[in-house]
Amino acid sequence: MATRILSGVQSSGKLHLGNYFGAIKQHIEMQDLADAEPFYFIADFHAMTTVQDAARLREYVLGVALDYLALGLDPKRSVFFRQSDVPEVTELAWMLSTVTGMGLLERAHSYKDKIAKGLTPNVGLFYYPVLMAADILIYKPKFVPVGQDQVQHIEMTQDMAQYFNNTYKAQVFVRPEAKLNKTAKVPGTDGEKMSKSYGNTIDLQMEGKELKKTVMAVKTDSTPVEAPKNPETCNVYMLYQLFATEAEQQAMAERYRAGGMGYGDAKKALLEKIETYFAAYRAKRADLAKNLDYVNEVLKEGAARASAVATKTLDEAKRAAGLL
Ligand code: ADP
Ligand code: TRP
Repeated sequence: MATRILSGVQSSGKLHLGNYFGAIKQHIEMQDLADAEPFYFIADFHAMTTVQDAARLREYVLGVALDYLALGLDPKRSVFFRQSDVPEVTELAWMLSTVTGMGLLERAHSYKDKIAKGLTPNVGLFYYPVLMAADILIYKPKFVPVGQDQVQHIEMTQDMAQYFNNTYKAQVFVRPEAKLNKTAKVPGTDGEKMSKSYGNTIDLQMEGKELKKTVMAVKTDSTPVEAPKNPETCNVYMLYQLFATEAEQQAMAERYRAGGMGYGDAKKALLEKIETYFAAYRAKRADLAKNLDYVNEVLKEGAARASAVATKTLDEAKRAAGLL
């Protein structure tokens, strides 16, 4: 039997290096696994907890679709769809919420972090992990490839699957496992986790002057040019590692340790790497943007394939709970 894989990315802004190296790169690579059956979706319902402007939401959804396709998503090998095109997940989310204790959701780090930052939470933000659990469980995947920050949400999903199965004494849901990338945490330009919400991103679409300005502004310490530097604690080096070969990384690390190289030189090397690495993506993205009918067709077809699976699981859950 094929191994089903599922993941989603929120359409809450432009995608950045953290999204790519933390999640999307792995999503694309997993298409090559011999028995993989990947399902990837644009989490637009989730994005509504933060993006509350119709034009912007539409723009971001389209942006994520273009990004995935330009980065190598192959609609022949992956089911690629928009979350809201399969509204069955919201029904399942409701059902899961009725077997889930408040305590489980109150312990969610991402929710607590947002509150701590002073955000006034809407109910949707609190309920977010339940919808995410429904997203996952409805497709019965074995693996969910995500970045480190999503691991707790997967654990909560495992709990909710068990609560439901135990409550209704039925094996409706399969336990999903998180799958982490090697680069589970990409630093932003300020050294904190790169995130849309922190304004510290290097976006995939950046190029030319904008990219240069952003890379040159990556935070470094004030070690003078001539002094030896520690690559391990440097944001520029950490970002450089994402692009460089083993040998290039070693050579750069030696230049750090030897002294005599300013951070500006390391930044230039990083800048060049980013420009080259994403050049093909940018060209393909520009082409796709001229062919939106194709993009919409891919999403439509993906939604039909995803719906077939989702309706079946929802039906099983409803039967177990006495709704059918
Ligand atoms: P953001 O924090 O920018 O809002 P999302 O929450 O939409 O990003 O994340 C989408 C995917 O990208 C998730 O799987 C998440 O774990 C991954 N991701 C986001 N930022 C990073 C990062 N800085 N390092 C590694 N992975 C990341
Ligand atoms: N919460 C995820 C994020 O911010 C997005 C997401 C929604 C997701 N539903 C999912 C990821 C289901 C994996 C599986 O990145």
